[in-house]
Amino acid sequence: MRLLSPVSGSKLVLVLIFLFLGAIQSNALKLNLTDSKGTCLYAEWEMNFTVTYETTNQTHKTITIAVPDDKVTHNGSSCGDGQNGAKIMIQFGFAVSWDVNFTKEGSHYFIQDIKLSYNTSDNTTFPGAVDKGVLAVKVPEKFEVPLDVIFKCNSVLTFNLTPVVQRYWGIQLQAFVQNGTVSKNEQVCKEDQTVTTVAPVIHTTVPSTTTTLSPTSTPIPPPTVGNYTITNGNTTCLLATMGLQLNITEEKVPFIFNINPATTNFTGSCNPQTAQLRLNNSQIKYLDFIFAVKNGKRFYLKEVNVNMYLTNGSAFNISNNNLSFWDAPLGSSYMCNKEQVISVSRTFQINTFNLKVQPFNVTKGEYSTAQECSLDDDTILIPIIVGAGLSGLIIVIVIAYLIGRRKTYAGYQTL
Ligand SMILES: *[C@@H]1O[C@H](CO)[C@@H](O)[C@H](O)[C@H]1NC(C)=O
Ligand SMILES: *[C@@H]1O[C@H](CO)[C@@H](O)[C@H](O)[C@H]1NC(C)=O
Ligand SMILES: *[C@@H]1O[C@H](CO)[C@@H](O)[C@H](O)[C@H]1NC(C)=O
Ligand SMILES: *[C@@H]1O[C@H](CO)[C@@H](O)[C@H](O)[C@H]1NC(C)=O
Ligand SMILES: *[C@@H]1O[C@H](CO)[C@@H](O)[C@H](O)[C@H]1NC(C)=O
Ligand SMILES: *[C@@H]1O[C@H](CO)[C@@H](O)[C@H](O)[C@H]1NC(C)=O
Ligand SMILES: *[C@@H]1O[C@H](CO)[C@@H](O)[C@H](O)[C@H]1NC(C)=O
Ligand SMILES: *[C@@H]1O[C@H](CO)[C@@H](O)[C@H](O)[C@H]1NC(C)=O
Ligand SMILES: *[C@@H]1O[C@H](CO)[C@@H](O)[C@H](O)[C@H]1NC(C)=O
Ligand SMILES: *[C@@H]1O[C@H](CO)[C@@H](O)[C@H](O)[C@H]1NC(C)=O
Repeated sequence: MRLLSPVSGSKLVLVLIFLFLGAIQSNALKLNLTDSKGTCLYAEWEMNFTVTYETTNQTHKTITIAVPDDKVTHNGSSCGDGQNGAKIMIQFGFAVSWDVNFTKEGSHYFIQDIKLSYNTSDNTTFPGAVDKGVLAVKVPEKFEVPLDVIFKCNSVLTFNLTPVVQRYWGIQLQAFVQNGTVSKNEQVCKEDQTVTTVAPVIHTTVPSTTTTLSPTSTPIPPPTVGNYTITNGNTTCLLATMGLQLNITEEKVPFIFNINPATTNFTGSCNPQTAQLRLNNSQIKYLDFIFAVKNGKRFYLKEVNVNMYLTNGSAFNISNNNLSFWDAPLGSSYMCNKEQVISVSRTFQINTFNLKVQPFNVTKGEYSTAQECSLDDDTILIPIIVGAGLSGLIIVIVIAYLIGRRKTYAGYQTL
C-alpha cells in the first residue's frame, strides 16, 4: 500500500508561523454546550483527515477531508451528568462522523476515544471506493487535563493511524465547566511551548527596539529607577521610588520585563486605611500596588494586581491580596536598596531595585526617616555588631588590667 505523504517540514513551519501571527482565517468548529448554569462544555478547534482507501480497480486513492464549521451537525453532543458521558459528536454529511468522550477523575479529566468513522459506501465522498461499509479509526492515546482550565493548542497535532491521518489544531477546550463560565486559567500544550520558546531566539538575531520581553538566557540589565508621586488635592500623599522588573514564569522560559518609567503612566489614591499606586503602559493594562494599615501602627504592601499582555498577545491576569511586604511604622518610609523579590504568585514575581516607599503620612512632599529592609541592614549591622563587640572586649580587658595593677600597687603601699 502506498503510504500517505506526511506534512512536509517547511509547510508545517509556515503553518506555525501563520498561526503565531494569527494570520490564518480559521474555519474553526465551535461548540458551546449549556445547562441550567450556563456553559458546561466549550470547544473550538480545527481538524482534517487524510484517508487512503481501496478502489474497485485495485489501486488506492488518498483524499483529505477538511471539516468546515458550516457543514457539520453536533447531534448527540452532551455534557452528560457532569461526571461521565460528556461527549462531542460531529457529523459531516452522511459519510463522516467524529466523536470524543470526556471522563472526570478527581481534579482532572481525560479526553479519550477520539474516533473517526467513515462510510466507504458513500460514492460522493469516496469515489470509486470498494464498499466496505463504515470504517472507524480511534486515537489510541488519552489526554489528561486539569479541571477548571481552558486547554489551548495552536500547533498541529498529527495522529498517523494508517489508513487515516488525523490532524487537529487551533484547539481551545474545556469540559466539565464549573458554574457556567469558561475558565480564565489556561493550559497550553507542550507543542505550543516549543513554538514560543523558539520564537524569542528569532527575535534576538533580529535586533528590535520594540522587544521588551526577553528570555532569561540573555543578560538582563537592571531596570531604570522611577519616581511615582500621588497627590491628594495639592498635597503629596504617596511617594514611591523604585526600579521594577517583572518575572513571568507561565512557561518553561521565564519572561523578564523591565518597566521603563519614561513610558509608564501612573495614577493612584490615598485613603486613611489604604493607598494605591497604579502603573500602566502600552503593554501593562494595570499594575497595582495596594498598601494597608495594620493595627493603626504600621503599613505594608497588601495587594498586587497585574493585567498585561504577553509577547504572543495573550492576557496575563494575576492578583494577590494577601501579601505582606514593605512593613514599616506609620510616619516613616520603607527602603530597600538591594534587589528584593516580591513573590505575587507561583508564576509572577516582581524584582525591586533601589526601593523607597511611603504610602501614608507624607509631610511636605518628602520621605520621612526610612526603615531599611533586612537585606540592606545585614551588611551594615553585622560589622557594627562585630566591631562594637570587639571594641567592648578591648575596653573590658584594659579596665581589668588597670584595676589589677592599682590593686597590686595599693597592696605594696599598705605593707
Ligand atoms: C489539513 O491540515 C493541515 C494542518 O493544518 C494543513 O497543512 C493541510 O493543508 C490541510 N489540508 C487540507 C486539504 O485542508
Ligand atoms: C441532526 O439533528 C437534526 C435535527 O435535530 C436533523 O435534522 C439532522 O438530520 C441530524 N443530522 C444527522 C447527521 O443525524
Ligand atoms: C464514549 O461515548 C459513546 C457514546 O456515548 C459510548 O458508546 C462509548 O462507550 C463511550 N466510551 C467510553 C470509553 O466511555
Ligand atoms: C453508508 O452510506 C450508504 C450510502 O450512502 C448508506 O446507504 C448507508 O446507510 C450508510 N451506512 C451507515 C451506517 O450510515
Ligand atoms: C482507477 O480509478 C481511478 C479513479 O477512480 C483512476 O484515476 C485511475 O486511472 C484508475 N486506474 C486504472 C488502472 O484504471
Ligand atoms: C463554583 O461555585 C461554588 C459555589 O458557589 C464555589 O464553591 C466554587 O468554588 C465555584 N467554582 C469555580 C470554579 O468558580
Ligand atoms: C526621584 O526623586 C528624588 C527626590 O525627589 C530625586 O533625587 C531623584 O533624582 C529622582 N529620580 C528620578 C529618576 O527622577
Ligand atoms: C524568575 O522566576 C523564576 C521562578 O521563580 C526564577 O527561577 C528566576 O531566577 C527568576 N529570574 C529573575 C531574573 O528574577
Ligand atoms: C501565550 O503564552 C502564554 C504563556 O506564556 C500562554 O498561556 C498562552 O496560551 C499563549 N497564548 C497564545 C495565543 O498562544
Ligand atoms: C482579572 O482578574 C480579576 C480577579 O482575579 C478579575 O476580577 C478580572 O475580571 C480579570 N480581568 C480580566 C480582563 O480577565
